Amino acid sequence: MPSENILEVINLKKYFKVSKGVIKAVDDISFTVKYGETFGLVGESGSGKSTTGHVVVGLYAPTSGKILYEGIDMSMGVERRPLNLKKKIQMVFQDPATSLNPKRTIKQIIELPLKVHGISHGDASQKVAELLQMVELPVEYMDRYPTELGGGERQMVAIARALAVNPSFIILDEPTSALDVSIQAKIINMLMRFQKEFDLSYLFITHNLSLMRNVASRVAIMYLGKIAELAPTEEFFYNPLHPYTKMLLSSIPVITDEEEAMKPKKVISTGEIPGALNVPPGCSFHPRCPERLEICDKVDPCMLEISPGHFVRCHLYNSMKV
Ligand SMILES: Nc1ncnc2c1ncn2[C@@H]1O[C@H](COP(=O)(O)OP(=O)(O)OP(=O)(O)O)[C@@H](O)[C@H]1O
Ligand SMILES: [Mg+2]
Repeated sequence: MPSENILEVINLKKYFKVSKGVIKAVDDISFTVKYGETFGLVGESGSGKSTTGHVVVGLYAPTSGKILYEGIDMSMGVERRPLNLKKKIQMVFQDPATSLNPKRTIKQIIELPLKVHGISHGDASQKVAELLQMVELPVEYMDRYPTELGGGERQMVAIARALAVNPSFIILDEPTSALDVSIQAKIINMLMRFQKEFDLSYLFITHNLSLMRNVASRVAIMYLGKIAELAPTEEFFYNPLHPYTKMLLSSIPVITDEEEAMKPKKVISTGEIPGALNVPPGCSFHPRCPERLEICDKVDPCMLEISPGHFVRCHLYNSMKV
């Protein structure tokens, strides 16, 4: 039977050696993304979301673990990936101000991947014009430089560049967090339309839980390089299990009384926020956890499946796994 997963990430680790030690930016995470799905990755700053995206797109080879794209091993860096497949995974980077080369025109930026992948050899003006129209930018922008565009427009260019090579899978790293609310909605709607039109699967990275709720069908929450909880989006919001998830959900603003009633009661973190260089022993969340047990600073919990598709890494649920 063919797999329903376009992407499988298996026990993925990415460590960085720095002068003060080793940063375990991504530390043994596993998840799958189904065909046509938007899979959400959330977590605080420094939890390893972008690094996960960078390894999946092939910017870095993993320290260990596997990335399977349509069942094919893509665990090597991008330069060693099979030529016909590497264009299939694209990424829209977190900060369009730095991800677009300021010395190149919009035309040069969008046509570069077309040339690299041999899709277009000569003048690609026609194709670039089509892509600009697709993201609702004026064709005249071709001759402009990124600094002459607004933040939202730059992000549209980044999306056009990602779409240029007909990918199947796009990593969207905080695609709208730096932008005004009105432009955010426009870009999100556009991305959702492209997903249907071009059969795209998304890995959607954000720290914005309300946005995640609107776009993702399943969500994984990262904490210091590990996945703390992974669940279908509805389940994640109605029945959060991990104390960290409850803490984050209790702090998001809500609009309706119904949402207020659903929200976990305010959870106050009890300790310091540790960094990736000083990851606490046992469960890395234990210094901040209001529900910690004696075991929590000694033993790192395993991932447990509490109900079908709902996983949590927390000692509170050790006796509850299915
Ligand atoms: N190239 C690198 N060299 C060394 N450390 C790195 C590198 N890239 C990321 N890190 C570190 O890895 C950890 C995870 O970083 P990452 O950028 O993946 O977090 P993030 O969840 O995307 O955060 P944010 O929400 O701020 O974008 C951080 O401690 C970061 O400093
Ligand atoms: Mg990031």
